[in-house]
Amino acid sequence: MKIYQTYFEENKLSWNKRTAIHKDSAFYDLVSFKNGISSLNKIELDELGDVKGKNLLHLQCHFGMDTISWEREGAIATGIDFSDEAIKLAKEINTELDMHVEFVCCNVYDLKQHLDNKFDIVFTSYGTIGWLPNLDDWAALIAHFLKPGGIFYMVDFHPTLWMMDENFEKIKYNYFNTQVITEEISGTYSDRNASIKSIEHGWNHPLSEIITALLKHNLRIKLFNEFPYSPYNCFKNMEQGQAGMWRIIGMDEKMPILYSIKAVKQSQ
Ligand SMILES: C[S@@+](CC[C@H](N)C(=O)[O-])C[C@H]1O[C@@H](n2cnc3c(N)ncnc32)[C@H](O)[C@@H]1O
Repeated sequence: MKIYQTYFEENKLSWNKRTAIHKDSAFYDLVSFKNGISSLNKIELDELGDVKGKNLLHLQCHFGMDTISWEREGAIATGIDFSDEAIKLAKEINTELDMHVEFVCCNVYDLKQHLDNKFDIVFTSYGTIGWLPNLDDWAALIAHFLKPGGIFYMVDFHPTLWMMDENFEKIKYNYFNTQVITEEISGTYSDRNASIKSIEHGWNHPLSEIITALLKHNLRIKLFNEFPYSPYNCFKNMEQGQAGMWRIIGMDEKMPILYSIKAVKQSQ
């Protein structure tokens, strides 16, 4: 992953800046979370199911609200993220709430150097693989950290969404993972006017690339879903539709916004 080092460094800087804004935002609502409200959504709660007593590894956990929420659901949780500011904040919240999540600060691709235990569940959600250049290595890592019979679950934004320009007016990017996409951003999804500016690098991944990577590493897909809405108002030009869920203005619910995958690690 050495060839991607500069991209990762710039992304990490950006996520450090975003974390400083996110922690006080209405979007993340840390106050309600500290008072006991779960940050998890119905989609992942319903689809992943009972986590009680299970060892759960959360990849790209940001500042740990979902990871701690899984522990509140009964999991023995570990969260990892490469943003040192996010992990520092996650550890502070964990201590303040007297929770027992283990938080690790590292790049996903370096995780084997930091953890040596195996998990019943590997979880990742909402804004994850778009930051990762190589899904083959990512899927190998998931398989490595799962016990035989363990579950991988992800819910994320749909690759067709990442083809669009930021106003969702026209197709701007390739559906396929042909090259790095570099953008200068200002603000962040929790506060578009926040006074931060960053350079970020991302990669588009078609569904075929995601599914092929998982299958190649013995992760048998048990569930695949697509949803025309998001629980988050995190893009420009969104409006609330059915059950308070967010969709792109003018698209009604004609366009997929999310997909989810649940897979089981086969014994070799
Ligand atoms: C959109 S957030 C994940 C969303 C999460 N569900 C939340 O709490 O909002 C993306 C996270 O991925 C992390 N990240 C991006 N690239 C990474 C990498 N290569 N290794 C580890 N973490 C990474 C960022 O630091 C950020 O916290």
